[in-house]
Amino acid sequence: MNGYRDLRVALLGCGSVGAQVARLLLEQGDELAARVGARLHLTGIAVRDLDAPRDVDLPRELFTTDAEQLVLGADIVVELMGGIETARELILRALESGADVVTANKALIAEHGPELADAAEQVGAQLSYEAAVAGAIPIIRPLRESLAGDHITRVLGIVNGSTNYILDRMDRFGDSAEDAMRVASELGYLEADPTLDVEGYDAAQKATILASIAFHTVVPVDAVYREGISGVTSAQIEAARHAGYVIKLLAIAERLTAADGTTGVSARVYPALISRDHPLAAVHGGKNAVFVEAEAAGELMFYGAGAGGVETASAVLGDLVSAARRHVIGG
Ligand code: HSE
Repeated sequence: MNGYRDLRVALLGCGSVGAQVARLLLEQGDELAARVGARLHLTGIAVRDLDAPRDVDLPRELFTTDAEQLVLGADIVVELMGGIETARELILRALESGADVVTANKALIAEHGPELADAAEQVGAQLSYEAAVAGAIPIIRPLRESLAGDHITRVLGIVNGSTNYILDRMDRFGDSAEDAMRVASELGYLEADPTLDVEGYDAAQKATILASIAFHTVVPVDAVYREGISGVTSAQIEAARHAGYVIKLLAIAERLTAADGTTGVSARVYPALISRDHPLAAVHGGKNAVFVEAEAAGELMFYGAGAGGVETASAVLGDLVSAARRHVIGG
């Protein structure tokens, strides 16, 4: 044993990301303790069904169905259960009790991000959600912190892996949309309701989050123009290729300045033509990328895995370590 104090971590949800977060926390306990200066003690994992099969073998005694009880007394709550209303209530309860919260819940943040951020601010707690956009790719913290002194002018994101996979298969291998979609489903890229991917809802939620952070404002999800890929045909993809373009589902957020000098933010998701010379054209398969244009920094691109249990768990753990360090510094 060592002299580290314990920080009590409550995990809500044990799906593909939650199971990997729990595994990494248990396996890397000593290393993380040394890195943080405190032991991240997993006090429990709240699940709906204690007997459901898991991706990872985890100690049975960690599981509970009593999420409310688990949240009470936690220093850090990690919400990976998904859904909106119950997750929102548990997160509000956690924040009100002064706990920091880490979540990967894009739908929740897109819908209730400002309310949750206010609740966190009121008690001086930290709400972080790096994993909510583009899985493993660090993009929230770079936009919020690394680029905080710059003026971002535009963000272009391939933020939905399944539609990128489908369009990429159609473009490079001539697959039909149906075949490509079937494989995307087998690979586990699609949401439980694939309409969320195919019709651009998932990308619109991520566009809301990116736009709000990049432009220091609130961009509601229903202000995002949204068009999915269901209308994209093989013939259009072929024609684009011949003209030197590729069709990608893009989430675009940009600052617009009117003639009278007033500014606003436009956010939209649609299948866009990208020149084959653009770095985003080389984002293949289920990968994600976010291309950022900023006045001083110029062009930046963040690229990597936008989904996947262990990949997304990396972003969750990063937020968790960051929250834990705050506790250590705060005493
Ligand atoms: N269905 C999502 C995607 C999963 O295809 O990108 C990650 O958010």
